[in-house]
Formats: sequence, C-alpha cells, structure tokens
Amino acid sequence: MYLSRDEEAVLSGKHGESAQKAMELVVALGKIYNAENLVDITSAHISGASYKTIGDGGLKYLEDVSKDAKVKVTSTLNPLGMDRERWKEMRISPEFAKKQLRIIELYGKMGVRTSCTCTPYLGGNVPKFGEHAAWAESSALSFVNSYIGARTNREGGPGALAAAIIGKTANYGLHLEKNRAPAVIIDADIGNTLFDHSLLGQAVGKRIGSAIPYYRNIRPDIEAAKTMAAAMAAAGSVAMFHVEGVTPEHSRYDVSGLETIHIGKKELKDARESLNTADDIQLLAFGCPHLTVREITEMAAFLKDKKKRRNDVDIWFCTSSEVRSRCPDQVKILERFGPVLADTCMVVAPIESNYQRTGTNSAKAGNYLPTLCSQRVMCDDFAKLMELVI
Ligand code: F3S
Repeated sequence: MYLSRDEEAVLSGKHGESAQKAMELVVALGKIYNAENLVDITSAHISGASYKTIGDGGLKYLEDVSKDAKVKVTSTLNPLGMDRERWKEMRISPEFAKKQLRIIELYGKMGVRTSCTCTPYLGGNVPKFGEHAAWAESSALSFVNSYIGARTNREGGPGALAAAIIGKTANYGLHLEKNRAPAVIIDADIGNTLFDHSLLGQAVGKRIGSAIPYYRNIRPDIEAAKTMAAAMAAAGSVAMFHVEGVTPEHSRYDVSGLETIHIGKKELKDARESLNTADDIQLLAFGCPHLTVREITEMAAFLKDKKKRRNDVDIWFCTSSEVRSRCPDQVKILERFGPVLADTCMVVAPIESNYQRTGTNSAKAGNYLPTLCSQRVMCDDFAKLMELVI
C-alpha cells in the first residue's frame, strides 16, 4: 500500500504515539481490504459512546488515547447510554452516570463534538456529495452514502476514531466508484407511512444481506430514508442504496441486467410478524433513528388533545439535544406522555435493568432490542402503539 512521506512520518511515531497507533490501525485495515492508498476525509462519526456498549475496557482505551490525540476533521458521536441531564428519570445508576460523563469528557478532550446523535447529518456534521468520510453507526453511514452521496465504509468505532485522528482513511470499498453500483432492483409496492418504509428496509435487509439495492416506485423523504437505512443495516448489513429519481447517484449505473425482487404487502406483513414477540409492553420507545423536528411535530399534533391512561407503561421519545431545542412547544406536548430524551436511545441505554417488554415503531430497534437489551418486542405503527396507552 502506498503511503506518502507525511503518512510514513505519522506511522513512524513522529507525530506522537496516539497518531502512530491510529495510523497503524487505518493501514492494517487498508491492507486487509487491499487498499492502494489512503484518502483525506472531511468528516468522521464515531460509535462507542455509551458506557453500556464499551464498558470499562473502552473507557480505559479512551483514557489512553486521549492523552495526546486530537481529531483533525469534524467529528461527532453516537448516542450515549443516558440523557446527560435527565439520567435519574431514566433510572440510571450514579455509577453508570459517572462513567458515562467521563467518556463524554474524554471524547471532548480530543476535539470530538459531544452532541451525541445517530442523525448528525441533520445538522452539525454533513459531509458533501463526493467527499470521503469515516462513519460508524450503520444507519447514519448508509444515509450519507445514499441520500447525500458522500463516501464512507461501514466503520467500527475504533476505526472511525483512528481515521478522525489522522484525517485519513484507507481507500477501498465504498470510497471507490466501482463498488457503489447497485446489485439488485427492488420493485416496492408499499404504503406511504414511515412504518411501511421501516418494514420495507427490514424485508430487503433480510433478503439481500450486504448487497446494494436499487429501489423503484418509492420516493422516500429524509424521515423515510433514515428509517429504511436503519432497518436495512440491522436486518442485513446494507451500507448504501439507490432510489430511482431520488438519490444523487442513481442514474450513474446501468441496471438493465439486474435481478428484480418484488416487495409488497405480504413481505411487509411477514417482516412485521418476524419482529413481534410481545403481547403487552412496559415501555414505548420512539426515535430510532433519532426523531427529526418534523416527526416530533407530527407526534405532537397526534397527541395534542389526548390523555395517557396507562401509568404502568413508560414512554420515551429519543432525539438529539439540537433537535429538542428547536421545537420547544411540540416537546412540551410530548412531555405530557413521557420524557423527550436527548442524545441517548432505547438500545444503547441499559433499559434491561428496568424493562422486559418494549414497543417501538422502528424495525432497527425491533432487531436490536432482543439481542442487546433482552427485550420482547412489539413493533408497530406509532399511532397503533400509542392507542394502547391513550
Ligand atoms: Fe440511533 Fe439507537 Fe437506533 S443509535 S439508529 S436510536 S439503535
């Protein structure tokens, strides 16, 4: 693999130990995937911010690397294990909270922005079309590859942090034009709701694994695209998709010889049934990926004149602190039903300490709640889930 003189200098330790280790990791990944060189990145998004997911080992790693490392590009963090102000409402232990706050502090020390969301592309960290990036968080990286046309592989947390520290990543996979071509056409025949798009992502992810799909007959907006991207990445490991007439690279490739898969109402029903394992709930959790202003506004409009009648069910709305601060009136309405939590989510928070049955309108959460949080799951449309408690 070719390295420039400057890159060799970093690798030899001339710019400090942490930069050297970061370069070693990026180069090792490049060698595994046969990269010919490194490319400059403009942005990084780092997962591994929740104490629940990284534990004491991850905290120790961050203590070490933050001694002399600074990120070189705009870098953001994935959600934390708690809302940093409202963790007591989430019934988080003081010990967990202390370690979680330390993790944020260490990332901050390295220059990482400590707004912690899986939708950084809604503001704050928005790579441009054609730019290279190093993003972890499967839903977000698929969104920026597909909907924005930036270029990132499916990074892990340490790989994204290493790339952020050296400002470069190895040039392989989705950084290369030839690897961004669609492999299969999805002829979608679905309804117009967000939940339909979530189930579509679920059905497609299960069916095609890691291939790049080319959708026909849908026109997803930002909200629909983010929920689809999340579901495809969780049910399979899809890191990029094209949508005819919508995504910026859809017309670059000849799709005439590709296999077509039809996904219609029956496939959506099967996808929904495969995610449902609970017949009652203790927690309703919305915002996977994090809610946008528009979603919060629509939820508030739906709930405006309603009352919560079941006190044995908690309700969480998860979003970023930035989005929460942009719609205070709508947030006030939602808060009559449950907290609007910032910078955390139902999957990376330790909900298993307090709940065993969770309802969600997100197929991604529907995949991860059983495996990462030991939950039985009810997965349905927002209105249908809310009707259980209002
Ligand atoms: Fe975001 Fe948590 Fe879902 S990180 S995509 S809300 S699992």
